[in-house]
Amino acid sequence: MLKQGLFITFEGPEGSGKSTHSKLLYDYLRKKRFEVVHTREPGGTVIGEKIRKVLLDPKNKDMDVVCEMLLYMSARIQIVKRVILPALKKGKIVICDRFTDATLAYQGYAGGIDLKIIEDVANLVTRGIAPDITFLLDIDTKLGLLRSGRDKDRMERKSLMYHNKVRKGYLSIAKREPDRVKIISAVGDISEAREKIRKIVLHKLGKV
Ligand code: TMP
Repeated sequence: MLKQGLFITFEGPEGSGKSTHSKLLYDYLRKKRFEVVHTREPGGTVIGEKIRKVLLDPKNKDMDVVCEMLLYMSARIQIVKRVILPALKKGKIVICDRFTDATLAYQGYAGGIDLKIIEDVANLVTRGIAPDITFLLDIDTKLGLLRSGRDKDRMERKSLMYHNKVRKGYLSIAKREPDRVKIISAVGDISEAREKIRKIVLHKLGKV
């Protein structure tokens, strides 16, 4: 048990393999006998999973970007309150696929909502918690979209230009916060990325 919890998030454009890596890290830390919670956004709670369905349903083509942003935030408040905060308070490690950086990259940098507005809403929603480490799995946008398969959800169906802006947005966030956001190349050997991630987490765990 840690003295205080550790909050780790995984981010990246479509098809970056972030879910694979977050699960690999989860299994690894559990084997090392840490108390770990693995969850995802949007989702991770009953209400959040319902909101996820609405957000990703390709039939909801007409969704306004502000509606989209607020729905992602609505799912987030549920997971923060019901899952993330309680686990961190108990000194657990929380691994979450996506968090506020995704809203900044997708609805902000790509969707055009003022980043300051997103940050203000996020402050209300996240109750002061922020990731201690964020792994940004970086991949060429076209390659990532190819990897994500044929059966595309509403977000994956957005244009290549949109997804290029998402990637650029993520890279800007990483540039602004290099101590927190670690860029991991998602192309090439999966074990290389896996080892890099483990090393960074073990180093951090030595300090908490
Ligand atoms: P995924 O994480 O399972 O790939 O699916 C979630 C999708 O939702 C993905 O396209 C990224 C997108 N997303 C946003 O646009 N904003 C957000 O705040 C979050 C959490 C996800």
